[in-house]
Amino acid sequence: MKKQLIAGNWKMNGSLQSNAALVAALAAGAGSAQCLVAVCVPAPYLAQVQLLVAGTRIDLGAQDVSQHESGAFTGEMSAGMLREFATRYCLVGHSERRQYHGETDALVATKAQRALAAGITPIVCVGETLAERDAGRTEEVVKRQLAAVIHTNGHCISEIVVAYEPVWAIGTGKTASPEEAQQVHAVLRAQLQAATAHADRVHILYGGSMNAANAAQLLSQPDIDGGLVGGASLKPADFLSIIAAAR
Ligand code: 13P
Repeated sequence: MKKQLIAGNWKMNGSLQSNAALVAALAAGAGSAQCLVAVCVPAPYLAQVQLLVAGTRIDLGAQDVSQHESGAFTGEMSAGMLREFATRYCLVGHSERRQYHGETDALVATKAQRALAAGITPIVCVGETLAERDAGRTEEVVKRQLAAVIHTNGHCISEIVVAYEPVWAIGTGKTASPEEAQQVHAVLRAQLQAATAHADRVHILYGGSMNAANAAQLLSQPDIDGGLVGGASLKPADFLSIIAAAR
C-alpha cells in the first residue's frame, strides 16, 4: 500500500525567521514519520526552505505555477524555475486562486501539464462551494474540475496528486465528516479509474480544517490518502500530530 502524504500549505504566511523555526521543529519531529511529508511555501522562500529541508524527510512544494513556459509574463513563475529549487510538488487550482484570481478549469489543467513536464507533481485542488453542496451539485462540480485535468494530461494523469478541498471547510473550522469526504474521494477515484489503469497510485488528499483532533478519523477512510493542511501546518505540534496520525 502506498504511503499517505501530508502536505502543509503555508499560504501567504511566514518570514525568514519563522520559517527557520517551523522547519527545524518539523524536521526534528518528523524523523520517524510513516508517511510522506511536504511543505508548500510562498515562492520567495523556496531557496531558503530548499536548504532547510535538505537531508530531512520533508519535501518542498510551491503554491502556484505559470501556464506559460517562459517569456513576457511579469510576476509569473515557470515550472522550470520552481524545479531549480528542487521543488517536488506544486499546488494548482487552489480554491483561493480559482476564487480571487479567476482561474478556470482549463487554466488549472494547463498549469498541471507545465508542472508535469518539468518533473514536478501537481497537487490539483478541487472542491465545491457551500451553495453548490446545498444544491446537490458536489459530484458534478468536482468531476468537472478533475475532467479538465484528465482531458489535458492524458496518460500522465496517474502522476498527479488530487486534493479534495470543500471550499466551505477551508479556514472555517468546519470539516467534512469522514463519511462525507470518503464519498467524494470514491467518486474521484472512480473517475481516475476510468482514465488510467494506475488510479490506485494517485494520492487523493483531503483538505479543509484538518487538525490534530480530526485527522486520524479522516485518514482512516479507504480513499483518503493524506491531507492538505492550511492553518494547522503553521503550528509544529499540530502538524506533527497530523503526521503521526498518517500511515
Ligand atoms: P485550512 O486547513 O486552514 O482549512 O486550509 C485548507 C487549505 O486550503 C489547504 O490548502
